[in-house]
Amino acid sequence: MASAPPRVFPLIDVRSSGLPMTASGSGFLMPPPGQAVQDTLGRPLRDLRISVTDRCNFRCSYCMPKEVFHKDYPYLPHSALLSFEEITKLARQFVALGVQKIRLTGGEPLLRKNIEVLIEQLAAIQTPSGKPLDLTLTTNGSLLAKKAASLKRAGLQRVTVSLDGLDDAVFQAMNDVAFPVADVLKGVDAALAAGLGPIKINMVVKRGTNDHEVAAMARHFKGTGVALRFIEYMDVGATNGWRMDEVVPSNEILSRLRAVMPLVPLVSSQRGETAQRWGHADPAGLHDTTAGEIGFISSVTQAFCGDCNRARLSTEGQLYLCLFAGQGHDLRTLLRSGADEHQLRQAISAVWGDRADRYSALRGSTSAGAPSGSRRVEMSYIGG
Ligand code: GTP
Ligand code: 5AD
Ligand code: SF4
Ligand code: SF4
Repeated sequence: MASAPPRVFPLIDVRSSGLPMTASGSGFLMPPPGQAVQDTLGRPLRDLRISVTDRCNFRCSYCMPKEVFHKDYPYLPHSALLSFEEITKLARQFVALGVQKIRLTGGEPLLRKNIEVLIEQLAAIQTPSGKPLDLTLTTNGSLLAKKAASLKRAGLQRVTVSLDGLDDAVFQAMNDVAFPVADVLKGVDAALAAGLGPIKINMVVKRGTNDHEVAAMARHFKGTGVALRFIEYMDVGATNGWRMDEVVPSNEILSRLRAVMPLVPLVSSQRGETAQRWGHADPAGLHDTTAGEIGFISSVTQAFCGDCNRARLSTEGQLYLCLFAGQGHDLRTLLRSGADEHQLRQAISAVWGDRADRYSALRGSTSAGAPSGSRRVEMSYIGG
């Protein structure tokens, strides 16, 4: 299906303008060893998303519209990127402060050279109670067929693959580089074969573009062991020309699916989970675990900020506390000034301890206090 030409807004570059972080953390008291640092709303730090590159080989219009991310776009120079050693050093401090899950993102993380080396280093980190991390990665799947086995060998536990449709014309229009769907599906198969599960598929749904693919996607992944999640199209970043009328509320997708396949609600498995989960039902109306489950990530219509435990580390070492933040906190300068591990922890604790972000919950309210669209950081820079 041909989609309308995308509306795109010009980019105002808010990279590299992070707030300074101090080694003393302004005297903030760190939590006792083994306990997670909490923000002003009592939310613990549990989940760290690390962007390893701001580049991607796709140009999804909701994320990196071609008109902005063209061939002359000023991507970060190599010297600006955190090295693997720097990332690992920071990751260790986050884990000491409560992080249990690390997700590598981008742009497209598999474009970062020797990513397996970073994965090996991160896989060696243990939580204060001696448990391994939940180490995962979000990818567009384009390089997964080639890399799944080496990622697994390096110590990656699981992957999440972005896939916005099964129909080639729809998918190619969404990735805007004519990448064929069959190659992503081969990547998913390779990940399954390599044991990178449980695998999740993320589908961003845009009304009039790919919402007619929803049932076909649910049928395709039923019984494969892969969990499909429908994501409400968000007003993240400043360039994607977001409009509410292109958001398909999760409730609407759920009703459409329930009209054609039986589904039962599942209880959430952990606090802070982004997705509401539903199981495919058997004839008795019970969850058929062999058929699997689907999820709904409804950050527009049912915000989940109340339990948000996620921090984001940008490609160049800026710490962002919300996907919709206009400004990060400059960890790279602190790190490169020679701060020791204790000082890094102190600084991260102070920033998290001061956090009050809940952009999605406030979206639309007049007191939102969130940066206007033009000041928001792009998702390809801080990662999903
Ligand atoms: P799992 O541990 O695999 O369940 O991962 P997850 O759901 O925490 O992370 P994932 O990166 O797969 O998130 C899926 C999508 O949810 C992202 O691409 C975003 O669109 C959205 N999302 C994730 N975290 C946040 C968040 O903190 N705020 C908002 N508004 N959206 C988020
Ligand atoms: N709305 C919702 N999700 C988005 N992503 C990127 N941009 C958006 C957006 N505007 C998420 C998708 C994709 C991941 C890399 O980032 O889930 O799979
Ligand atoms: Fe690339 Fe993922 Fe953004 Fe698409 S959504 S442009 S695949 S980073
Ligand atoms: Fe967390 Fe910000 Fe997303 Fe709310 S909008 S869930 S605070 S990242």
